[in-house]
Amino acid sequence: MPTATLPASTSTVQAPSGAVSPCALRIENLKTHFMTDDGAIPAVDGVSLSLSRGKVLAIVGESGCGKSVTSYSILRLIRPPGQIVDGSIMYYPGDGTRPIDIAKLNEKSDDLYRVRGGYISMIFQEPMTALSPVHTVGNQISEAILLHQKLTPAQAREKAIEMLRKVGIPGAERRIDQYPHEMSGGMRQRVVIAMALVCDPDILIADEPTTALDVTIQAQILKLIKDLQASRGTSVVFITHDLGVVAQIAHDVAVMYLGRVVENGSVRQVLKSALHPYTQALLKSIPSLGTRGARLPAIRGSVPSLTNIPPGCPFHPRCEHAVRGRCDVGGPPALRTFTGNRKAACVRIEEIHPTVRELTAAEVAAADTLAAEVTAAPAGRHNH
Ligand SMILES: Nc1ncnc2c1ncn2[C@@H]1O[C@H](COP(=O)(O)OP(=O)(O)O)[C@@H](O)[C@H]1O
Ligand code: SF4
Ligand SMILES: [Mg+2]
Repeated sequence: MPTATLPASTSTVQAPSGAVSPCALRIENLKTHFMTDDGAIPAVDGVSLSLSRGKVLAIVGESGCGKSVTSYSILRLIRPPGQIVDGSIMYYPGDGTRPIDIAKLNEKSDDLYRVRGGYISMIFQEPMTALSPVHTVGNQISEAILLHQKLTPAQAREKAIEMLRKVGIPGAERRIDQYPHEMSGGMRQRVVIAMALVCDPDILIADEPTTALDVTIQAQILKLIKDLQASRGTSVVFITHDLGVVAQIAHDVAVMYLGRVVENGSVRQVLKSALHPYTQALLKSIPSLGTRGARLPAIRGSVPSLTNIPPGCPFHPRCEHAVRGRCDVGGPPALRTFTGNRKAACVRIEEIHPTVRELTAAEVAAADTLAAEVTAAPAGRHNH
């Protein structure tokens, strides 16, 4: 557990009950903008989503929709001209200590150091961005261990070898003294996963971790992350542009379009009967057994530029359900909650899905409590 590795100066206050929140992370109205000469680019513009403890939340959407900027914001890795301009990123530690609003943390605070160093780890899309070419993989993993755990260098090396074995690297005792360039892409991504997991993070953020790999290795890495997540009870944010991958790995899914969440629900619900026309279009573009070999129905048009976002619903120029005068006026539709505790941002949901009804505020509150109780059942980590 990360608590065992905290620096002595930590200011953490134990919550009176010590209760572990069923929610690991709750993002509300997050806005991360890039201040350029052409004006503010709203890469993330009012994102709200939550990650249940011990579950995998997939964030999915076409390239450029703000998935990486959202994940970088969670670790406060956004650099100028980027800036978090609004919203909160509440992290509820798995050890029951008080919640932390990561969005408000001082750059040099102990809490941010603890969040980055032990509580939340990230696997980046391209393994070489996370690895130094001039140090052996063993030294790099050992360094991550020594920074956050009170172990001797020999013990850290042992732990590094053990972790390399866990991520399926054959001959780990020998491989540990190799440099990244002596390894294949798949091996390097395993090393990055080992580095991300060696401090036993409470939350793992994986930003398209298999995109740079070939299909066979992709499947192996996905299985590896899934197995490690299940055995450790880690809460995972898994970012991908591929709904096929979502089906394999996630419990819940948030679909993003132009810096906003347009649909959010359980994977089963969303993949079986998507509410939002954008999700429906994404699903139609996945190859299935029936359509293999046939031409895929690509979503018409392309993603508009963030400097020229259409008025009204930002998806309206591409939407086959768009109605003039309703979908192309005003601001973007709010993310509303519907029966089954599913969320979607579209003004025509009830017309497109006549069996679906928007929940009242009281029903939304009740559904949230119920979801919390259901998720709370397995209690904490490492025990399911
Ligand atoms: N350093 C930057 N400067 C200006 N704009 C940026 C920067 N980084 C990202 N953006 C903007 O944010 C958008 C979303 O990027 P990103 O989150 O990386 O998308 P993806 O969903 O593919 O991960 C980009 O299309 C770009 O317009
Ligand atoms: S609001 Fe209108 S344009 Fe947007 S997704 Fe719904 S139907 Fe389509
Ligand atoms: Mg990205």
